[in-house]
Amino acid sequence: MPSTEAPIGAQQFVPPDAHELAELKAAAAHCEGCELYRDATQTVFGRGAADARIVFVGEQPGDVEDQQGLPFVGPAGRLLRDAVDDAGLDASDVYITNAVKHFRFELRGKRRIHQSPGPAHITACRPWLVSEFALLKPDMIIVLGATAAKALLGPSFRVTRSRGQLMPWPAAAHHPEDFPVTETQALATIHPSAVLRADDRDAAYKGLVDDLKVAAAALS
Ligand code: URA
Ligand code: SF4
Repeated sequence: MPSTEAPIGAQQFVPPDAHELAELKAAAAHCEGCELYRDATQTVFGRGAADARIVFVGEQPGDVEDQQGLPFVGPAGRLLRDAVDDAGLDASDVYITNAVKHFRFELRGKRRIHQSPGPAHITACRPWLVSEFALLKPDMIIVLGATAAKALLGPSFRVTRSRGQLMPWPAAAHHPEDFPVTETQALATIHPSAVLRADDRDAAYKGLVDDLKVAAAALS
């Protein structure tokens, strides 16, 4: 049974004076801010250059990411890298992370079936995102799918309705006070896993690339 107790949250595990992403990553490896650390293999922190101008925020690590300890190394990650290239974004200018940093799953026999994180996990894990933004100070925050949108843009934000639109940041943020990044923009688009599941995969992929081209144009 899922616990009904509210998680304590990640805040107390975040080093207050971190100057490097590596310090955050090392601290996040010991996070017990919600119960997801118990069953997952390891924390999957963000990765990319410290001077990256573009930050992608996904949902949570999947099965492959949980085992390898790196975000977006499975099928969704391959698709996302293709889309980044096809949109004309510079892959070396990208940092990629997730709204929730442990894999949430349900065991069916020996299979681990992905379960979306709930609002309590999203809230518990947000301090890590806040700490990543504070160090990265990106020029563009790209929100991938509904979970990241809930974490960053609020529960009433609808990706399907508002995707592909540039939004001033932190004005668009659900908790602007948490994100000490100024003169940034955000843009939401569908999650690469949704492209993989789409009936018309080509059309869904083109939609993702078209949204990313909006970000590319804004950055150039
Ligand atoms: N999907 C995500 O949202 N994040 C990952 O790291 C992998 C798949
Ligand atoms: Fe900490 Fe986030 Fe993992 Fe929960 S999901 S234990 S808050 S790192």
